[in-house]
Amino acid sequence: MATHDIAVIPGDGIGPEVVDAALPLVEDAAAASGVTFETTRFEWGTEYYLDHGEMMPEDALDRLEGFDAIFLGAVGHPEVPDHVTLHGLLLPIRKGFDQYVCKRPNVLFEGIESPLRGYGSGDIDFVVYRENTEGEYADVGGREHRGLAHETAVQSALFTRRGTERIVRAAFEAATEREGHLTSITKSNAQAHSMVFWDDVVADVAREFPSVDVERLLVDAAAMDLIRRPHEFDVVVASNLFGDILTDIGAQITGSMGLAPSGNVHPSDEYPSMFEPVHGSAPDIVGRGVANPLATVLSWSLLFEDLGERRTANALWDAVVDQLAASSAPRTPDLGGSEGTEAVVSDLQSRL
Ligand code: NAD
Ligand code: IPM
Ligand code: MN
Repeated sequence: MATHDIAVIPGDGIGPEVVDAALPLVEDAAAASGVTFETTRFEWGTEYYLDHGEMMPEDALDRLEGFDAIFLGAVGHPEVPDHVTLHGLLLPIRKGFDQYVCKRPNVLFEGIESPLRGYGSGDIDFVVYRENTEGEYADVGGREHRGLAHETAVQSALFTRRGTERIVRAAFEAATEREGHLTSITKSNAQAHSMVFWDDVVADVAREFPSVDVERLLVDAAAMDLIRRPHEFDVVVASNLFGDILTDIGAQITGSMGLAPSGNVHPSDEYPSMFEPVHGSAPDIVGRGVANPLATVLSWSLLFEDLGERRTANALWDAVVDQLAASSAPRTPDLGGSEGTEAVVSDLQSRL
């Protein structure tokens, strides 16, 4: 059986804490289901930047390209501006490997108390398909003062027909495999160019999927409805920035940022996909050993699912589900517990 080669970039803050804690568990889950994989670790990130003046070496994408997948912890450090670190490591990988589908499941698991009154196990279960290579993150713009009466910054969003169609089509395909309901989120009342274009693309692609029921929501109303009626969402498709914001809401209504997994997927074999927890480097809890490793474990599950290794993917996902349902199992403080990262992982070992 082929060995999967996985690049691992632990990154900054709690990134190395959750990645290192989860790796032995992931190895056990793979071994138990007859899957072999090898990891190569890249110590890139802000410490590397402070030594070398760059977040990763110039040939980093060449070095990553041959891997079957990439696992990333988190990026971001209080001593270096975020736009430097994120544009130096995370965003160039998403863009460079054309990982245009950012897939973020939001599930309210048994044993988790949602902050939303009346919501219990399974009542929230939707997946966000976030456009991941262009839109508001296109990095088109500038900042100028000279010659202008008032200093001015421009940040343009870029929406191409190809880029919009492919994320919308991926979301429709997902809807056909789920409940057949798709919510497209825009701001086409105010953004008459990009978002009206997005609505037109959705209408065009919808003709290919007559069985999918399409709902359109403005992003402000969507933020409200994710709190008011999250049970009605199935597949959500949104632009890069809107998808970013809405998935933080999704994480919180399903329990914690520490539980939210994510895949940055390039759907062909041309480039590797990258998997990572939705959360960041969490400088407020770094070094205390209390970071929740479950988002990382679930993200590894998404990685194996993407590689076609369903048994390993299910073993990891089910171990998390099983742990959360057990009232006596250890929990990190973000889930109301008082245990640490290691205790959560060793309990998971016993549930594989
Ligand atoms: P964050 O996700 O790092 O933290 C937000 C809150 O959630 C904090 O209170 C944190 O303690 C908590 N939290 C996050 N992950 C947790 C976990 N696994 N267990 C328990 N609690 C957890 O977001 P932020 O504070 O806005 O950003 C911190 C840094 O991370 C910034 O530099 C930001 O740019 C960066 N960031 C990186 C990524 C990424 O690498 N993908 C994602 C988001 C933010
Ligand atoms: C995420 C993060 C990143 C994003 C930041 C750190 C650039 O918030 O993965 O959700 O906006 O995509
Ligand atoms: Mn985010």
